[in-house]
Amino acid sequence: MRMVDIIVNKREGNANTQAEIDFLINGYVNGEIPDYQISAWLMATFFQGMSDEESFYLTKAMLYSGDIIDLSMVDGVKVDKHSTGGVGDKTTLVLGPLVASVGAKVAKLSGRGLGHTGGTLDKMESIEGMSIDISEEKFIEQVNDINIAVAGQTKKLVPADKLLYALRDVTGTVPSKPLIASSIMSKKLASGADVICLDVKIGDGAFMKTLEDAKDLSKIMVAIGDSFGKKVTAFITDMDQPLGHTIGNRLEVKEAMETLMGNGPEDLETLCVNIASYMIYYANKAETLEAAKQLAYDQLHNGKAFAKFEEFIQAQGGVVPNLNDFIHVDEVMPYKAKKAGYIKQIKALNIGLASMKLGGGRETKEQDIDPNVGIVLHKKVGQCVEVGEVLCDIYRNQKWSDDILGLLDDAYCIVEEVVETPETIKTIIG
Ligand code: URA
Repeated sequence: MRMVDIIVNKREGNANTQAEIDFLINGYVNGEIPDYQISAWLMATFFQGMSDEESFYLTKAMLYSGDIIDLSMVDGVKVDKHSTGGVGDKTTLVLGPLVASVGAKVAKLSGRGLGHTGGTLDKMESIEGMSIDISEEKFIEQVNDINIAVAGQTKKLVPADKLLYALRDVTGTVPSKPLIASSIMSKKLASGADVICLDVKIGDGAFMKTLEDAKDLSKIMVAIGDSFGKKVTAFITDMDQPLGHTIGNRLEVKEAMETLMGNGPEDLETLCVNIASYMIYYANKAETLEAAKQLAYDQLHNGKAFAKFEEFIQAQGGVVPNLNDFIHVDEVMPYKAKKAGYIKQIKALNIGLASMKLGGGRETKEQDIDPNVGIVLHKKVGQCVEVGEVLCDIYRNQKWSDDILGLLDDAYCIVEEVVETPETIKTIIG
């Protein structure tokens, strides 16, 4: 078999066979096929797309390029969730303890943030003493004992994705739906869960800009899950503004804790209750989806989800934050409205970049982050503001860059006409 024939096949719009896809993934991981040939194939795939069958073969080849976590020692249905990356997205910190509190098993591997999006691991590590570096044995033991463990992804998990993603990043081929679907699903399948809920973001701060694109991506991922015998549900959710009110690691942990105590912002609570209902129902912890939803809501308001959060933090060596003494910044700087009217959009991308420039995120993988800094939104889309009203607070330490205020100026779109509050969940697929 020759790589050039595989590229030509794809360039001409023909489907690649399973043998061809296995050949190219194995050859690339083993260093036998050079970057330039894989780059050409990625670009051909970007333009020609893939059938459901090819997406399945690609996911399978990527999945078997590395270790697969064996969760057979965990009793019961294992549930997992994944977000395609958002700004202010602290759902894992809420959902994990919430569904674990009703007995579903959450064995979750998470990643770090890069660019304008934050990562669950960075949020967890902003809690004093919290370790995400736990052995596979301890991970499984903890899930059996308290129903939840969250750890960092090992380098051995889907090495093909690490190589391909780096190449996609520099060849303009990241936004290809089958490539995104196989990248996400190979990692989710390697993590060993039976039930997977996907949070597919749409809008300014997301990979998918339109509902149609997000639906197409979701359908590919649901079909891949089906082929592997997994129950996958995709929630298509709004990223035309950040989720909740806070952006920045400790600020997000604080908001997640408040949500677990029943005092969270409406959009975050709605999203968590809905996703949790599917995880709870498919983990056989409620008779119907409606009952699962009520149970999820109750657990947030009766203290049980928060009690599970405390247990989880302590099990991984962390000290449950005292919210009155958790966020340490030199200055809280109000950012005020320059125009009166209704907020039509708060560009999530700009807010994420502003938080990154304050030191709350990384431009490169090696950078250290300041867990204390970030942005707190006081107004959300649909709300009315007067000139001089505080739109958000900037939590800052030493790090400052002059374009932060420019990013905020450009983030807010304020109009004269009344704007409706957007739906957090646009639709559900699967
Ligand atoms: N997230 C992933 O893990 N992979 C992609 O390709 C895009 C988003």
